[in-house]
Amino acid sequence: MTSSEIRSRFLAFFEKRGHAILPSASLITTDDPKATNATLFNTAGMQPLVPFLMGETHPEGSRLASSQKCVRTGDLEEVGDNTHATFFEMLGNWSLGDYFKEDAIAWSWEFLTSHDEGLGLDPNRLYVTVFAGNDAVPRDDEAVAIWKQFIPEHRIYYRDSKDNWWTAGPNSPAGPSTEMFYDLTGTLGDLSPEGFEQADEEQKLVEIWNDVFMAYRQEGGEVVGELPKKNVDTGAGLERVTAVMQGTTNIFDTDLYRPLIEMIKEHASTYNDTDARIVADHIKTAVFLINDGVVISNTGRGYVLRRILRRAYHSLESMGCSEKIVPQLIHIVIDMYRELYFKDVNEKQIAIKVKIVATEMDKIIKIIKRGVAIFKKIKDDPRATITGQFLMDLEQTHGLPLAISQKLAAQFGITISEEAIKDCERLREEHQALSRKGAEQKFKGGLEKDTEKIRALHTATHLMLAGLRKELGPDVHQKGSNITEERSRFDFTYGEKVEREALDKVEAYVNDAIATNAKMGVQMMDKDEAKNSDVVGSFWEKYPDTVKVWTISDKAGNIYSRELCGGPHVNELSEIAKFGTFKITKEESSSAGVRRIKAILE
Ligand code: ALA
Repeated sequence: MTSSEIRSRFLAFFEKRGHAILPSASLITTDDPKATNATLFNTAGMQPLVPFLMGETHPEGSRLASSQKCVRTGDLEEVGDNTHATFFEMLGNWSLGDYFKEDAIAWSWEFLTSHDEGLGLDPNRLYVTVFAGNDAVPRDDEAVAIWKQFIPEHRIYYRDSKDNWWTAGPNSPAGPSTEMFYDLTGTLGDLSPEGFEQADEEQKLVEIWNDVFMAYRQEGGEVVGELPKKNVDTGAGLERVTAVMQGTTNIFDTDLYRPLIEMIKEHASTYNDTDARIVADHIKTAVFLINDGVVISNTGRGYVLRRILRRAYHSLESMGCSEKIVPQLIHIVIDMYRELYFKDVNEKQIAIKVKIVATEMDKIIKIIKRGVAIFKKIKDDPRATITGQFLMDLEQTHGLPLAISQKLAAQFGITISEEAIKDCERLREEHQALSRKGAEQKFKGGLEKDTEKIRALHTATHLMLAGLRKELGPDVHQKGSNITEERSRFDFTYGEKVEREALDKVEAYVNDAIATNAKMGVQMMDKDEAKNSDVVGSFWEKYPDTVKVWTISDKAGNIYSRELCGGPHVNELSEIAKFGTFKITKEESSSAGVRRIKAILE
């Protein structure tokens, strides 16, 4: 069965059972950071649904299902084994206070074993675990009683909260879970509890589905009460399920990776599985991140993108494989997922993504050359010792990631102590915490002060963003702005120079709106409602639950711009006209993947 068939069978199965099928949300988390532990990316299908699991009404009803794009970077170092990847899709079905354990378990079982509608897996190769209970929540005997209808009791195992308790973070909805496992070898038969644990350890078993009975609320990692409703949250990793269905022992031999691995194999002089898997996974993740608007930087999401691209480069190099194959790999990823995620991506947009990746790879090539020179010097200096601070400086000043420093050191026969590595990691965390603080402060800025002219430029800047998105596409997002009496300075995501012709069109768009004397309206909206409608916004996570949405529209109801913003703005666009015509005076690069525009009214 192909991976797309598995995905569509899953969604069809739950649609037939009354579930609304949701499209995958962006990889970038936009939920209230308090509720999701502020992860950088969606790491599970439930994450975009947190407010609804907490009790809000979902517009699509109380039964939902999706295949959600996820990125997990906690296991970065494990990518290369049989089952870990940074990018994956999670198949999931949810009940928001609708059905509970009985139906959730029965449907999981039916989907796994039914030949007609499901996967037709052999029931004799399936095992389940249930929550063993703790001080706060009792053992899940209900789940056991239900499972006994489908599976012999001796194939049901108890596990504690390390494995069978699920939550998206310390302050999040949570609950006991039941997990389903498949025997990859087909030889395990009945297993004692110890035999089961051992087979799992040896990767003879693979966990393919997790049903969470999400009925509790956690704060600071402790259960503090029950949720208003009892929910179900399930997740099955598409890659793992596909491996099972395609009879392979690892996810990289499935149709979700094979074309990438084959391309790498063809071009590598010293091929090895681990590095090939790292390249395949990381390039895939990079394409998805860039597509969802992540821009390379030294902090947060942008730093994750930078790190994985650098790791990918390093693995290519280790296999004697030229980075010149990267554009082809990017094309393979886009073709592989075109129907689902890249339907509207045209050649030009692909070329922009290719360029972002290529530029980053060129940088790392130069950095590694410098790194080689540095380590060579150390080798020749008998007094040299490598400290955590030194490794951190290599990372910060020379852009040489710790992992690559370690490899270079090994190449030159230089030892780096465990202590130095730990120190470097600690220093990195401290540095990142400081940058986060800085970013929050910067965000408060924007307008130098509140004057008529600054208001006029501010409203015109909203029109300009709408015009830019119209000309250049929806990947354009605001990265920052600074408005003074003299000019508006505006940073936005875009991978290449914006031609004068396009800027002229943007100018015309702004001036047309001003000429119609469109009105500026403001509305208070529920943040999630705004997010799910056509409101344009960046930094969603920094706004409260109720947000101000500013809409510029003319009498006929044509909308020129609709944007999340704290204000202040003009009331009527004639207040802009009195300062003159809107002009873009400068367009330049601000940082990798970010352009800067200066615009005036004169
Ligand atoms: N949220 C649960 C998981 O990710 C289903 O495993």
